[in-house]
Amino acid sequence: MAVLKAKDLAVGYESQAVLDNINFEINSGDYFCIVGENGSGKSTLMKTMLGLISPVSGEISFAEGLEKNEIGYLPQQSDVQRDFPASVYEIVLSGCQNGLGKRFFYSKEQKALALDNIKKMGIEKLKSRCYRELSGGQQQRVLLARALCATKKALLLDEPVAGLDPQVTEEMYELIKQLNDDGMTIIMISHDLVNVQNYATKIFDVNSMKVTTIKADKEGK
Ligand SMILES: Nc1ncnc2c1ncn2[C@@H]1O[C@H](COP(=O)(O)OP(=O)(O)O)[C@@H](O)[C@H]1O
Ligand SMILES: [Mg+2]
Repeated sequence: MAVLKAKDLAVGYESQAVLDNINFEINSGDYFCIVGENGSGKSTLMKTMLGLISPVSGEISFAEGLEKNEIGYLPQQSDVQRDFPASVYEIVLSGCQNGLGKRFFYSKEQKALALDNIKKMGIEKLKSRCYRELSGGQQQRVLLARALCATKKALLLDEPVAGLDPQVTEEMYELIKQLNDDGMTIIMISHDLVNVQNYATKIFDVNSMKVTTIKADKEGK
């Protein structure tokens, strides 16, 4: 079952395409990796998938049971964000904002969900700590827990292991794999071709515009 399709899509800024002729289909349960050189347009493509920027031309469509507000997103990190002065719990809870609707306060259920995802990511002990005092690996777990609050279906991750040491990188990949094994569709930008080959079901290379199927997804496609 396709959850996200790009058809003759061009992405960019102010009608200036950074990437064009994009065609792919992502199925439910896929682990879809986007690779390509720095500055080639991967983050721009991901922001277009999220609806944060409009396509220059062509189509990107969600299908069958996936809505834009049911996607979790872990943005590419900048130094400014690393200095964010809030507690781990506050940051994770802010991932529930999609479900806030017209209310001003988080519900009991949302608070429970935030705590659940904090546990899932193994960062309970860090709950009250200030985000900016954490290590890079701990910060990524916080952002993953935050992204999980927004979704049960699909996670979009923009270079989640950038700047992490090999041991912590491995742990992040294992966490993400566990989520994928539990049914989460993963869409991830990465530089790390070796790990990508190990985990991905499909690899989309924005330099060649080709999708390579590495292994069948859970539906055998
Ligand atoms: N907000 C923006 N406005 C205009 N151009 C941008 C903006 N953000 C990125 N770009 C440009 O778009 C191109 C692709 O950037 P990006 O999608 O961030 O690449 P990647 O994620 O593959 O490294 C780059 O040339 C970059 O300078
Ligand atoms: Mg990028």
